[in-house]
Amino acid sequence: MIQDKTVALTHRPRRLRATPALRELVAETHLRPQDFVAPYFVVSGTNITEPIGSLPGVSRLSPDLLLRDLERGLKLGVRAAMLFGVVPNETKDPSGKRASDPHGPVPQALRAARRAFGNDLVLMTDVCLCGYTDHGHCGLLRSTPRGVIIDNDPSLAALGEMAVMHAEAGADLVSPSDMMDGRVGYLRGALDHSGFQDTGILAYTVKYASAFYGPFRDAAGSVPKGGAVADSAARPPSDRKTYQMDFRNPREARLEIALDAAEGADLLMVKPALAYLDILYQMRQLSSLPLVAYHVSGEYAALKAAAAAGALGEAAATHESLTAIKRAGADLIISYYALEAAEKGWLD
Ligand code: PBG
Repeated sequence: MIQDKTVALTHRPRRLRATPALRELVAETHLRPQDFVAPYFVVSGTNITEPIGSLPGVSRLSPDLLLRDLERGLKLGVRAAMLFGVVPNETKDPSGKRASDPHGPVPQALRAARRAFGNDLVLMTDVCLCGYTDHGHCGLLRSTPRGVIIDNDPSLAALGEMAVMHAEAGADLVSPSDMMDGRVGYLRGALDHSGFQDTGILAYTVKYASAFYGPFRDAAGSVPKGGAVADSAARPPSDRKTYQMDFRNPREARLEIALDAAEGADLLMVKPALAYLDILYQMRQLSSLPLVAYHVSGEYAALKAAAAAGALGEAAATHESLTAIKRAGADLIISYYALEAAEKGWLD
């Protein structure tokens, strides 16, 4: 007999939410350690670990200490790393020459990691000039009647040299984050021409000019400076809006996706992640290539700060945030949480 106040409902979605085992049975999205790419800031030298104030838990590391974290990651099942080079300010110049120095921190780290781990690790490198130029822009500057601009085509040659040098040092994938037009095709040509047909390109396809990169620029010393350029009284812009995308534009993302795919990208990226899940979802519908989302420094720092303030539980909030990125369509997530989340059992 039906009890008082009971309604005859055919559909009761709550049935499948009743126990943890039932919920697990019907869960549609899973986070695994191998879904993650761990980002690292690498400096030259030995035995160096410099904590980064705005990124709690993250340090700049010399290659020898980097190996320890890479090994820790491997043991946890995190099999991919993205390397960002950090060099002293005194070594920077307007053209970012050190970006393609084969003795710089990134090639040193690549060779050491390849020696230590063979092909067990997937090694990716950031290809961009901003950490190596004294003005902090991702490309080269030129004075024009409209002021100092970030000059697209000459920047491609510098990026091409950097990518080939990374390939020579052992990178599996080079990852251009500069947002110059045509750089994926240019890098593909430069790599092929140098015999690196098998080095892949993970393109920062849809990279918005975002306030969430703040802590990264602190970590990499790559704040774009509006100050005077050497040999010129003119000032370059103090932001990256002439090359990174306007976050009001989802249709423009479709154009960037089409271009990077046509130019030969092997994987596509959306960046940042959480505020751009609509873009990621759209990309999933438009492309069959593997998709990567970058859960960027400001997103990480915001969670850390909220957790430190006792405003939310870090484990649950991190699990929820990273799951949302995967659910929206990411195959891979680049996140400063990669090792911590895998180690502390915050994944599924
Ligand atoms: C370099 C680069 C940036 C990031 C990745 N590559 C900074 C920027 O574009 O200013 C941001 C990553 C992060 O915030 O974690 N061009």
